[in-house]
Amino acid sequence: MIKWEEKGGIAMVKYAFPEGFFWGTATASHQVEGDNNNNDWWEFETQGRVKDKQISGKACEHWNRYEEDFDLIEKLHNNAYRFSIEWSRIEREKGKFDESAIEHYRDMLLSLRRRNIEPFVTLHHFTNPLWISREGGWLNEDTILYYLRYVEKVVSSLKDLVTYWTTINEPNAYAFTSYLLGMFPPQGKSLKKMVKVINSMAKAHGKAYKIIHDINPNSQVSIAYNVMIMDPVNPNSVIDRKIANFVDGIYNRLFIETLITGRFSGPFIKEDIPYAKDTLDYLGINYYTRIYLGLKTLFLALQNKLYDYPEGVERSDFNWEIYPEGFYRVVKRFWEMVKKPIIITENGISDAKDTKRSKYLISHLIQLHRAIEEGVDIRGYLHWSLMDNFEWADGFQQKFGLFEVNFQTQERKWRESARIYSEIAKNNGISEELEKKYLS
Ligand code: GAL
Repeated sequence: MIKWEEKGGIAMVKYAFPEGFFWGTATASHQVEGDNNNNDWWEFETQGRVKDKQISGKACEHWNRYEEDFDLIEKLHNNAYRFSIEWSRIEREKGKFDESAIEHYRDMLLSLRRRNIEPFVTLHHFTNPLWISREGGWLNEDTILYYLRYVEKVVSSLKDLVTYWTTINEPNAYAFTSYLLGMFPPQGKSLKKMVKVINSMAKAHGKAYKIIHDINPNSQVSIAYNVMIMDPVNPNSVIDRKIANFVDGIYNRLFIETLITGRFSGPFIKEDIPYAKDTLDYLGINYYTRIYLGLKTLFLALQNKLYDYPEGVERSDFNWEIYPEGFYRVVKRFWEMVKKPIIITENGISDAKDTKRSKYLISHLIQLHRAIEEGVDIRGYLHWSLMDNFEWADGFQQKFGLFEVNFQTQERKWRESARIYSEIAKNNGISEELEKKYLS
């Protein structure tokens, strides 16, 4: 499809996206708001467990500067914004809801609505109130009930302003990093615990889906699911293929298959969860990279060395492989599995110098476009992230922002990639010029 547009002479849109496509960015409360001093991450940071003993501190001060940040979103010509609600602000103490915190999020939502920006609201993005973690976190089954009580409170308070809800961000990545790899609080290192947490989160999602729909039947409910391409190191080795398939099964399939079939079929736990069946109105996908798995990398992975790539592979500052075709593979695969509209809830790159981000963006979007042309129903793309922020266990060094943030002055600065993204969103597609400039 070819479209002409006026800005800057005549640019031909070579890769046009469907009308009404959502263009946006994504953030998460703890990474941007600042002063989230009542959750398990704050405790973890103040115990000196983040790289170079960094703490999230004031982060991007998004809590107070959201209007300024929403101005930037408008300048990006975006019509969507994904952010998360901080449970530890809403329920600082068990059972006591803070109405002023809810009001604050209401104000944010009103501001987005005034600007015609569709909010995508995440209800759980990695952090837990301290009282939850002290009671055993997601290994304690009561957490499911506490979470549901919080969901009911938030959704009934904000139902008139939100259509798109994400119940849980990356239950698979959360369970892996927090309970198997020991990288995130509470630093568990047990396959059994990890599987238990995925199981509890599937139950929590299943029940939350119903609660949200009971409150507002028009809601669109999903999770944001991290999918990694997991290829065998040596495709000719049966062992490597088996290992890749095993990890893929737990990481990429277990949670989602439970929502498709109503049956949780993991190692250690096999159980019917009928109420979790058919609980996706759309599928949120977070895609970043590929890992290679096999005998060798299994041992490396056990030492948290996840990214052992062959020579010559192009990588981000985080050392993750830049693999645009993987994006196509992921959406095609999950479309076949889920048969529900897909919204990309995260995709982006850690690239402090911004020398790779524009290319990353364009090449990934072209792969997405390829899938759309082949009939995959993709409704939106939310880039991670609007601005540099607190990148969990790696602190502030990993920079995923379209906007650069000076954490001393809180100044936000346009990166070249932000200008490119703005142009793409404005044109609802990618011009031949952009493709030529960045991909050839
Ligand atoms: C995702 C996570 C985000 C962000 C991103 C970049 O897994 O949901 O919070 O940290 O990775 O690493």
